[in-house]
Amino acid sequence: MKQFIKGFIAFVFALVTLSPLVTSAQEDELNVAIVQLVSHPSLDDINAGIIEGLAEIGYEEGNNLTINQQNSEGDMNLLNTIANQVVSEDPDVIFAITTPVAQAFQNATDEIPIMMAGITDPVGAMLVESIEAPGANITGVSDAMSLDVQFELLQEMLPEVSKVGFMYSTNEDNSQLEVEAAAAAAEELGYETQIEGLSSALDMQMVGQNLASQVDVIFIGADNTIASSFATLLDVTDSENIPVITTISDMIEQGALGGVAINQKQIGYQAGLMTQEIIDGTNPGEIPVQFVENPDTLINPETVERLGIELPESVKEKATMIEVE
Ligand code: TRP
Repeated sequence: MKQFIKGFIAFVFALVTLSPLVTSAQEDELNVAIVQLVSHPSLDDINAGIIEGLAEIGYEEGNNLTINQQNSEGDMNLLNTIANQVVSEDPDVIFAITTPVAQAFQNATDEIPIMMAGITDPVGAMLVESIEAPGANITGVSDAMSLDVQFELLQEMLPEVSKVGFMYSTNEDNSQLEVEAAAAAAEELGYETQIEGLSSALDMQMVGQNLASQVDVIFIGADNTIASSFATLLDVTDSENIPVITTISDMIEQGALGGVAINQKQIGYQAGLMTQEIIDGTNPGEIPVQFVENPDTLINPETVERLGIELPESVKEKATMIEVE
């Protein structure tokens, strides 16, 4: 019994002396950088999602989290400068919103963990070796989703359409890879396709006009340049009475006809949650890349009306008609 009491006292003593250590470990400071290519509604949502995800795992600004927010405003030279500067400050984790940002950081560091947020094709853009085993210091969340469903929806919505146009920015690997995959999926379903590259937003009007005059409908994916000046494209397609279909909910809200889309904020949220594994010491190269589940079929009813489209009942039943303010 004496032995036991001694042991018990020693145990309590150890608890009391060690507990400050335990608590301070939980309250560790986290120092991150969040780097965004440009401002457009989807990327802003991803950014907000990251902050929510970090809060969910216990890290909040003003308490135990420091965030260095950077936005290159679409300027690739500035992006490289930002990458070098952020790396020199040695944050615990770097969140890279968009493929060009992840690529800039891949060039700038092979040590600091890079958490991708919204990277369409991490393997194709050579950011990771594979989805299951990324390999280096990079992991994160992809916004890729099935492209077949986009064209199955198109067949159902607009059965008379035969030729689909595709537009992408030539300086975005993400968009080029996605558009090539999308065109292949469309051809698989029997569509004729035409792909046009855009070297800058300044060409949007001209390239858009040219494409709209030759196709029945235009598909747009997760292209940052197009997302940043989507209104310009819509002006052109509207004047040609050509519907735009897309995987991006914000574009549908702005006036695209519809598409199957994931929640953009969820991309960032999942990236925030994944950060726990890195904090726990797992090598990013061993953390599989995640995707966002459960996309929704979204339709903009105002666009349906503006373009004089008669939607079949089957589409009306399964689609969410988004609210346009
Ligand atoms: N997937 C894009 C990339 O890899 C980034 C992105 C995420 C995006 N969501 C978007 C682009 C919405 C345009 C619209 O860079």
